[in-house]
Amino acid sequence: MENKWRVVVGLGSCGVASDGRGVYKALEEGIAQRKLSAEMEETGCLGMCYNEVLVDVIDPQGRRTLYKEVTPEKTDRLLDEHLLEGKPITEWIARAEGVVTDDDAFLKDQKRIVLRNCGLISPESIEEYQARDGYQALKRVLKEMTPAQVISEVLDSGLRGRGGAGFPTGLKWRLAAQSDTKPKYFICNADEGDPGAFMDRSVLEGDPHSVIEGMLIGAYAIGAGVGYIYVRAEYPLAVARLKIAIKQAKDQGILGQNILGSNFSFDLKIKEGAGAFVCGEETALIASIEGKRGMPRLRPPFPAVSGLWGKPTNINNVETLANIPWIILNGAGAFASLGTEKSKGSKVFALAGKIKRGGLVEVPMGLSLREIIFDIGGGIKEDREFKAVQLGGPSGGCIPAYLLDTPIDYEAITATGAIMGSGGMVVMDETTCMVDIARFFLNFTQAESCGKCTFCRLGTKRMLEILERICQGEGRIEDLKLLEELSESVKTTSLCGLGQTAPNPVLTTLRYFREEYEAHIIEKRCPARSCRPLLTFTVIEELCTGCGLCAKVCPVEAAKGKKKEPYSIDQTLCTKCGQCLAKCKFEAIRVE
Ligand SMILES: Cc1cc2nc3c(=O)[nH]c(=O)nc-3n(C[C@H](O)[C@H](O)[C@H](O)COP(=O)(O)O)c2cc1C
Repeated sequence: MENKWRVVVGLGSCGVASDGRGVYKALEEGIAQRKLSAEMEETGCLGMCYNEVLVDVIDPQGRRTLYKEVTPEKTDRLLDEHLLEGKPITEWIARAEGVVTDDDAFLKDQKRIVLRNCGLISPESIEEYQARDGYQALKRVLKEMTPAQVISEVLDSGLRGRGGAGFPTGLKWRLAAQSDTKPKYFICNADEGDPGAFMDRSVLEGDPHSVIEGMLIGAYAIGAGVGYIYVRAEYPLAVARLKIAIKQAKDQGILGQNILGSNFSFDLKIKEGAGAFVCGEETALIASIEGKRGMPRLRPPFPAVSGLWGKPTNINNVETLANIPWIILNGAGAFASLGTEKSKGSKVFALAGKIKRGGLVEVPMGLSLREIIFDIGGGIKEDREFKAVQLGGPSGGCIPAYLLDTPIDYEAITATGAIMGSGGMVVMDETTCMVDIARFFLNFTQAESCGKCTFCRLGTKRMLEILERICQGEGRIEDLKLLEELSESVKTTSLCGLGQTAPNPVLTTLRYFREEYEAHIIEKRCPARSCRPLLTFTVIEELCTGCGLCAKVCPVEAAKGKKKEPYSIDQTLCTKCGQCLAKCKFEAIRVE
C-alpha cells in the first residue's frame, strides 16, 4: 500500500443508509477513469453519524483528511482537487491535521476504548485488526496468564456489564469459573432492542474481532468450550461481518481446536434472534437458543450455575466484551484510572433525538450529561431549549434540565430515577410532550411483554390506556394516583427486568413533569403543543392577508372567509389536522 493514496468510505449501517455504497462506487469509477494509483477501502462507523457519508482520504505520506456529507455527485471534485492536484477541499473537511473544524469538538472529550478501531480499520480484514494489536491480548492470556489471573485482572479493572444491569464482569466470570460441571458455555448478548440504541450494532459492524477476542478471553477464564453470539436478524450487516470474522479467525487457528498452539479450544456459533425485546433478558435468551419460546424464568438458579441446556453459562454484552482485550493489554490500572469511584472506564452512548450532532460517542465515566449533550453533541437542534434526556431506553427514565450536571456514573444516574441502561440517550426539546413520551415507551414495553406475568401483561396495558386517555384530553385527576399504584404493582410483581422497569418512564415524567400531566387533565392543554386532540387552531387577524390558502387546503371546510379579509376557523368543524398551519405563508395560524 506504500506510495499509494487510500480512500476509505464509512460503511456502517448509517453510512449505507446515506448512500455510502453509491459514494464508494462513484469513487471507484472515478479512480479507474483517472487511472489514479489509489486503493479503495471500507470501514465501519466513526461515530459521526450526523455527517454521513464520511470519506477518509489518506495521502501517500499517511496524512488523513476526513470529508463529511459526501455524495456521489461530489466525488469528481474530490478526486480532481485532492488526489490529482493535491489540494484538500477545506470547506468539506470534518477532521484533518492543521484544520480547525466544528467537528473537532465532537471527538475532543471522548475516550475511545470500545470504539478504538471503529471507523479506522476494515471490519472485514483480520490483518487490519491485527495491525492494531488485535489478538495480542489473547496471545498474552494463553501464554502468560492462568484463568484465575485473567479473572483478577478484569475484577481489578472495575469493569461492570454494559448490557444494562452493571454487574461486575470479573465477579460474574468468577462465579461461572467456580462450577466444575462441563460443558460450559459463553454467550455474547447482541440482541440490542432498546429504541434509540445502536452501540452494539456499530461495534459489531465496525470491529467484530474485538468482540470475538473478548469472548475467547472470557471463555478461557471460565473454562467454556463453546460460545454463541445471539444477534438479532434485523442486523444483517453485523451478522455478515461476524460470519466473515469467524471464518478468518478459524482459518488462522484463533478459533477451533488448540488455539494458537495452546490447550484451549473454543468453537463459536452465531444464533440469529427474531428481534423480540424480551429475548435480551438472559434467561429468555437462553430459552431462545434452545429453540424454545423466548420467555424468562425465575432466578436462581442463575445461568452461571444452570444456563444453556442446564450447564454453567456466562452471558456478556457486546460492549462489555470489546473492553476486555484493551484491559488485558493496557492493564486493569489504566482502565480503573478512568471514571468515578464505582463506575470505571468509558461508556458508549448513542446520541439521538433533538441533538445537533447525533451519533455514537464514547466518554470516560464521570463526564456530565451536560458535557455530552452540549460540548460533544453540540446542543439542541435549531437552538431550541433543552427539556429532558431519556436514558436507558424503555426501562430508563427522563432526566430534566436542572439535573444536567449529573455525572455518568451508575449510582448517580439511578438516583435520578433513570438508569444507565445500555446507552441510549434520546434528547428532547420544548416541543416534546412528556406525557406522550411516557406513552411512547410504555407502548413499546407493553407490546414487548412476553405475557407470562399478569401485571406485566395487563398492568402495563391498563397504564397505557390511561396515558392514551390523558393525551386525548380525557384524563381524570385520579388517573395520576392510579398510574403510581399500577407502576408499583407492575414493578414488584414482575418476574424479569422488563416488567420491573417498564414503569420507569412514567414514574420519572410524573416526578419531574407532573404539571404537564395536570395541564392535560385540568386545562385540557398540551404545553408542548404536541398532543393534537388538545390543540386549538385559530387565525391571528392582524397577520392574516386573506389569501384563502387555509380554506383551500382545509379538508373539512372549517377555515372560512372572504378574499382579502381575515379568515376564521370554525372550531366545531376543525379536526386539528394542521394543514392550515403547514400551508399558511404569513404565520397567521395560532396553535394553543
Ligand atoms: C427485557 C430485557 C432486555 C435486555 N436486553 C439486552 C440486550 O439487548 N443486550 C444486552 O446486552 N443485555 C440486555 N439485557 C440485560 C441482559 O439480561 C444481561 O444482563 C446482560 O446481557 C449481561 O451482560 P453484561 O453483564 O455484560 O451487561 C436485557 C435485560 C432485560 C430485562
